[in-house]
Amino acid sequence: MIQINRVFETILNKHYVCPQGAMGRFVGEQMVRQHAKETTWTVSLADVRPTDHVLEIGFGAGKAIELLAKKTTQGLVYGIDLSATMVKRAKERNAYAVRVGRVRLQQGEAAQLPFEEHHFDKVVSIHTFYWWAEDPHTILSEMFRVLKPGGTLLFTFSHGKVGEERDYYDQTFIEEHVFPRMKSIGFTAVSSRSGPLSRQFKILAVVGTKPSVS
Ligand SMILES: C[S@@+](CC[C@H](N)C(=O)[O-])C[C@H]1O[C@@H](n2cnc3c(N)ncnc32)[C@H](O)[C@@H]1O
Repeated sequence: MIQINRVFETILNKHYVCPQGAMGRFVGEQMVRQHAKETTWTVSLADVRPTDHVLEIGFGAGKAIELLAKKTTQGLVYGIDLSATMVKRAKERNAYAVRVGRVRLQQGEAAQLPFEEHHFDKVVSIHTFYWWAEDPHTILSEMFRVLKPGGTLLFTFSHGKVGEERDYYDQTFIEEHVFPRMKSIGFTAVSSRSGPLSRQFKILAVVGTKPSVS
C-alpha cells in the first residue's frame, strides 16, 4: 500500500511542476483550491492599476489571471506557461476576457520570455520559484528585461511548513542567494513580505523594482 501511495505521489508531483493531460487538469484545479489564499494575497500585494500591463509566469489553471483581469479594466493581462494543458484550462476559465482581447495566454518557457523589453508594469509569479530557485539568474534576468522602468516584480512561494524542523528556503537562503542576485541584475527596493498561512504552509513574497530612467 505504501508503495502504491509513493507511486501516486510521484505522479502527482510531476503534475505540480508541469501539469499534463487529464491528470494535469485535475491537479491544476486542485492547485486553484489549495493556493486560493496566497493567490488573492499576491494579487492584492501587486497593487495593480486599471491601466497596467501585467505578466503572470506559470499561471496554472488561471485563477490569478482572472483576478488580475478584474483589476486591469483598461489594461492587459498576459500569461505564459510551459504546459499546453494549463494554457487550455486557463483560457477556458478566462474565456470572455480572452475573447475581447484583455487577456492573452500562451505556451512558453520562462527562461526565454517571448516579449520585447520594457513591456510590463508588473510581473507576477506564484508557486514557481521551486523549479528555478537553484539557478535563478536566467529567469530573474528575463523578468527584469521585460519590466518597464519603474515596474515591479513579485513572486510568491512557500518557504516552509508549520511544525517542520527547518524551512526549505530559510531567510538566510533568500538573503544570501536571491536578494544579491536580484540586485546584481539591477533590481532595487528588494524585500520580502510574509503572507497568510495556507494549509499550514508558510508563504513569502519577494518584491523588486526596475529603477526608473532618470
Ligand atoms: C506549481 S504550478 C503553480 C500554478 C499556479 N501559479 C498556482 O499557484 O496554482 C507551476 C506552474 O508553472 C508552470 N511551469 C513549469 N515550468 C515552467 C517554465 N519553465 N516556464 C513557464 N512555466 C512553467 C507549470 O506548467 C505550472 O502551471
